[in-house]
Amino acid sequence: MFSKDIYIQRRRILASRIGKGIILLPGNREQGMNYRDNHYPFRQDSTFLYYTGIDLPDLVFVMDLDRGKEYVYGEEQSLEDTVWTGPVPSLLSMAEKSGVEQVCRLSSLKDVLKGGSAIHYLPPYRADVHLLLQSWEISEKPSVELIQAVVLQRSYKQAEEIIQIEQAIGVSVGMQRKAMELARPGIRESEIAAQLQAIAVSEGGNLAFPTILTVNGQFLHNHASHQVLQNGQMVLCDCGAENQMHYAGDLTRTFPVSGVFTPRQKEIYNIVLNAHEKAIAALKPGILFKEVHLLACEQLASGLKAIGLMKGDPKEAVAQGAHALFFQCGLGHMMGLDVHDMENLGEQYVGYTPDLPKSTEFGLKSLRLGRALEQNFVLTVEPGIYFIPQLIEEWKATGKHSDFINYAAVETYKDFGGIRVEEDFLITAKGSRLLGTPLSKRIEEIEG
Ligand code: GLY
Repeated sequence: MFSKDIYIQRRRILASRIGKGIILLPGNREQGMNYRDNHYPFRQDSTFLYYTGIDLPDLVFVMDLDRGKEYVYGEEQSLEDTVWTGPVPSLLSMAEKSGVEQVCRLSSLKDVLKGGSAIHYLPPYRADVHLLLQSWEISEKPSVELIQAVVLQRSYKQAEEIIQIEQAIGVSVGMQRKAMELARPGIRESEIAAQLQAIAVSEGGNLAFPTILTVNGQFLHNHASHQVLQNGQMVLCDCGAENQMHYAGDLTRTFPVSGVFTPRQKEIYNIVLNAHEKAIAALKPGILFKEVHLLACEQLASGLKAIGLMKGDPKEAVAQGAHALFFQCGLGHMMGLDVHDMENLGEQYVGYTPDLPKSTEFGLKSLRLGRALEQNFVLTVEPGIYFIPQLIEEWKATGKHSDFINYAAVETYKDFGGIRVEEDFLITAKGSRLLGTPLSKRIEEIEG
């Protein structure tokens, strides 16, 4: 946990922005995998962690703004619980570390919520929390005011959070290096993926998201890791640890199984790397991330034009969405306590503004962050080129964007796979700073 002053200060700011009523933050609960007592690893809700730091299940945090009181609702561990799990820190001691004075039984919460005050809560993303809210018969809908206040706070990373994020990225760098070290013909993808998870867990945390380690990198979030690596293939490894404090890292590298790229792989790799570098150079406070995304798309389109896969004016091709045959997703997302930070609160609040609604177009609709960047935002930059045979066939059959796409040439890339390069950045006063220790990304470095 951070020092209690940090949590007290965060809550003070939140209270001053909401003003009156009750703020209700249910923490996460244990979830059965295949029966009740066989749990998934427990992961606390990130907003609950942000305001309390308490990493225990089955709690509810309440700020009664009208009375100026804060409460943690939950049950102390019973002797019978201790028989199974061994002792865990008492709720009282954890509340004390968080600067919360009152600990109450969960059964008394319902009456407090019936007191007539406005109740502010966030949109639930787990069914059991949804049911819990229903059981309290709260009449209000999730509070847009609370969503906006939380996003306003969590978007700007504090110095102590940056330290945690860099630590998580440090572990993630170790995972990437291990993947490159282990990759060789004959090894199964899952053997490598398992070792990456071992690193994250042995550092005291866990995976920040399920590892994508695949020779079929054309599928953006391909979690199947059953293939045996062969010479001539590339491995796309998109992995990240969350550290003990639950801050995330998220990195992607694409590298050849044999250690050496083929000329064709080199060509596509360098197009992606160029888009990555141009995007990084554009990062600064005030610029719309959507603008940075479109700039990266134009770089991809112009590189693909240079090797004969696209044609026409790259800017126009991107304006019409033709590049989305090769880059079907967004350039990046916010990162913090969640790998896609605060995505549970709604992308329209985290990544967009009322003046800049999220697009519904294929490709752009997967851009999770479009708004103007500000100092102390943390985000990923992850352009890619993906040759998805099913998509190529579908677009070709309908002649979609045939003014911009040379289908005869693209056909010959249907077995190519995909390439993505991803790093994490802090927006600074004048530009950006790469977070974590640098990891090889140029072809000479990867092959070296
Ligand atoms: N790197 C995995 C993700 O962005 O979801």
